[in-house]
Amino acid sequence: MSGVATTLLTGIGELVTNHPDGAAPAHGPTPAHAATAPGPDADRLGILHDAALVLDGPRVAWVGAAAGAPAADVRIDLGGRSVIPGFVDAHAHLMFAGDRAAEFAARMSGQPYAAGGIRTTVAATRAATDEQLLANAVRLVAEMRRQGTTTVEIKSGYGLTVRDEARALALAATLTPETTYLGAHVVAPELAQDPGAYVDLVTGAMLDACAPHARWVDVFCERGAFDADAARAVLTAGMARGLLPRVHANQLGHGPGVQLAAELGAASADHCTHLTPDDVSALADASVVATLLPGAEFSTRSPYPDARALLAAGVTVAIATDCNPGSSYTSSMPLCIALAVREMRMTPAEALWSATAGGAASLRRDDVGVLRVGARADLVVLDAPSYLHLAYRPGVPLVSRVFCGGSST
Ligand code: NIG
Ligand code: FE
Repeated sequence: MSGVATTLLTGIGELVTNHPDGAAPAHGPTPAHAATAPGPDADRLGILHDAALVLDGPRVAWVGAAAGAPAADVRIDLGGRSVIPGFVDAHAHLMFAGDRAAEFAARMSGQPYAAGGIRTTVAATRAATDEQLLANAVRLVAEMRRQGTTTVEIKSGYGLTVRDEARALALAATLTPETTYLGAHVVAPELAQDPGAYVDLVTGAMLDACAPHARWVDVFCERGAFDADAARAVLTAGMARGLLPRVHANQLGHGPGVQLAAELGAASADHCTHLTPDDVSALADASVVATLLPGAEFSTRSPYPDARALLAAGVTVAIATDCNPGSSYTSSMPLCIALAVREMRMTPAEALWSATAGGAASLRRDDVGVLRVGARADLVVLDAPSYLHLAYRPGVPLVSRVFCGGSST
């Protein structure tokens, strides 16, 4: 162990590692207790009891039984609290201005959700200064952090001009490495009569301006947004520039998005609210992560995705917030876990795994969503004896402390 300052976190009543070694008896600690390991799905969490962690700068340097922990420069006793990996929120739209509270109220009075509402936010976003856009995103990232999120993906998609998409991504890149070019969110209002010209812009000058600031390319493949051919053109153009594909797929109805994600080997198909059995098989066969966004179904009062069918088929499932001012204005991964358990019939263990390791898989990251030696020191201390309380005590602020890259907030 090297570095300027090491920190020993000890007195961890229950530690979720998401790593197979975490549960191995050879590692030393007490095996997972029956009350918190209700089945094989919980084994995946690699739970240790009476555990400790050593952080060395931004990395995890040691994981194991508290009784065998090495000394460190700083010692923090967590008094029996539980510790989980930081949440990985792999789907968020944080580069926007304004809100759509009135649209939400109308929806709760019976209006349906429609993709066209995005244009309201586009107008507000174009009118905002760089400082206003950045301040709003900083506020939301801080709100997420307080709720345990240590990795967040941030999309553009509310600018829809070369200048507005590029500035959104340049600003987002100051907050996260997981930036996503979503110029193809909807057709820009000024080109509503000529969607082909807008696709040319998204795959041409706009891509040129945005690619340097983005890791991912995304498209809203849906009736009212982009059809399969347009979506394929957007994704393949982005891939030719080195961006990795992910897709808003099958959110509002059965559509071609999931099949397109499988065809192109996308990292993730997001939403997956309306799936046929063929869609589920395609995701499994192509190893595309299904990133489920239950906040969107909650806030649009829509049927939830069939998580059980996806899990039964062996699809890797992630859970994310979809934080945006229209369909899901929540920044809370604990809320999404509670919804996944209550409304999508995921077990608490499956939901926690999907909100941490699943999100990491969706972003093709192996250094987050897991607490093993060498991983990023991103973790959450819960004011609860077990991760089970995340779903069991919905709406309760259980996050007592967050370490992100080894720094505590
Ligand atoms: O993921 N589906 C497309 N985009 C967002 C909604 C954006 C909005 O309504 O402003 C989503 O739900
Ligand atoms: Fe989205």
